[in-house]
Amino acid sequence: MPMNHDRIAAGAAPGKVILFGEHAVVYGQPALAAALGHGLGASVEESSKGPTLDIPRWGTEGLSVEPNHLSRGDAMGRAFSVALKRSGLSPETPVKVTVDGQLPLGVGLGSSAAFAVALLRGLCQYAGNTLNDVEMAQAAEDIESIFHGNPSGLDHTVVLTGECLYFTRQSANTFQSVRLGRSLPLVISWTRREGTTREAVSQLAARRERSPAMYDDLFASMGRLAEHGRRALESGDLRQIGALFDLNHGYLNACGVSAEPNERMVIAARDAGAYGAKLTGAGHGGACIALAPDNPEAVVVALQRAGFDALYTEVA
Ligand code: PMV
Repeated sequence: MPMNHDRIAAGAAPGKVILFGEHAVVYGQPALAAALGHGLGASVEESSKGPTLDIPRWGTEGLSVEPNHLSRGDAMGRAFSVALKRSGLSPETPVKVTVDGQLPLGVGLGSSAAFAVALLRGLCQYAGNTLNDVEMAQAAEDIESIFHGNPSGLDHTVVLTGECLYFTRQSANTFQSVRLGRSLPLVISWTRREGTTREAVSQLAARRERSPAMYDDLFASMGRLAEHGRRALESGDLRQIGALFDLNHGYLNACGVSAEPNERMVIAARDAGAYGAKLTGAGHGGACIALAPDNPEAVVVALQRAGFDALYTEVA
């Protein structure tokens, strides 16, 4: 296989945002998710030492790992090892890989899928290797599984296609492209997440177990709301999308997945002029999205004043 050792290779991938239907999707209802204008990039260059992977913004001090070929411990090292192999490179290839970007890490914005895809794209370019769509999706899923156990496939499918997708998870996962009537001006804010997606899902499952009929009615309503959301996205009706964000957030609150910081974020965004706001992803902290076509800067500033990180992005 030809290798371009004297060149720097690069790969990039966007993050994702769930617009409607998180949690209800676990119970067979539809969800809508889209690729973000912000993402991660991987740069790959020849190294005088063995392979290393640096993620300068990981945690407070950054992270630097070598490939880990064992099936236990050090998830990032294992992910690096799988990525090298799937890109057609030996685990000893002397490369220095740096993954960085503007996507917040670990708050439900698809950072592990974006990490997997950017890394694979960078390493494949370095190796002079091309994976077809199926191979790329499989490799991304294998890497994401190292972090998440059993990912639904939604994240890496959105990240790979860069599209807005209507997703259902019944006997098989189905995806349909949704053509947006116009791009969405979104302010994204985030804070630390309490626990993992898996914990948020299992705690909701325990609540549902005590009153299944009541919760299933709630999930069905969230499913119908996602259908309204799809039509509003297709027609580009921003007022309607904003109203549906607010309603979806109310349902998520009713499910018990909205924590106090999520409530403060959506209220701050609405007070600053957003058309609507909701948490996105698993909740219990993490990220919120606000539709802010008129004065996004004011919404960003209001969220920052309230103590959150925030950025403006467009879903196109
Ligand atoms: O926060 P994230 O990106 O991990 O999203 C979780 C979405 C859920 O619907 C809560 C779980 C799932 O598997 O769909």
